[in-house]
Amino acid sequence: MASIAVCPGSFDPVTFGHLDIIRRGAKIFDQVYVCVLNNSSKQPLFTVEERCELLKEVTKEIDNVYVESFQGLLIHYAKNKQANVILRGLRAVSDFEYEMQGTSMNKVLDENIETFFMMTNNQYSFLSSSIVKEVAKYNGSVVELVPEVVEAALQHKFSKK
Ligand code: PNS
Repeated sequence: MASIAVCPGSFDPVTFGHLDIIRRGAKIFDQVYVCVLNNSSKQPLFTVEERCELLKEVTKEIDNVYVESFQGLLIHYAKNKQANVILRGLRAVSDFEYEMQGTSMNKVLDENIETFFMMTNNQYSFLSSSIVKEVAKYNGSVVELVPEVVEAALQHKFSKK
């Protein structure tokens, strides 16, 4: 049986931390579906289409990674894809409570889909899309935090505001 993982997130925008998890996941699972979903507690800067375009650009060299978006529950998307795994990155203890709640909820919704956590590389343990947006908004350099195409998209977005 093929191992199919869904790597879900807001990806607003994708960072080197996300990319690290996606790359490592693609070495373990046969197929990785990176899915842009709505997080109801966040107000996104980029549209879903923009986030998908950036993700597609930065993952284009990884053959078994596919980028999509979905409106609705992650577990329904995972089921549609016949995925057996949800793949999430874990940075620090502060992520744990939120992840535990989501994972437990997803397990109630579908007990056959397992959530796997991968520790984010130490180099990126402080990194989040929110901190990247904050730095970029006030003209700080984000070259070490996001791919070039994302840096350009951030500059464009904030220059228009
Ligand atoms: O990058 P994020 O914001 O931490 O990702 C969170 C996300 C988008 C994966 C989560 O909010 C989600 O799964 N949203 C879809 C709606 C859903 O399935 N909610 C129930 C499980 S939390």
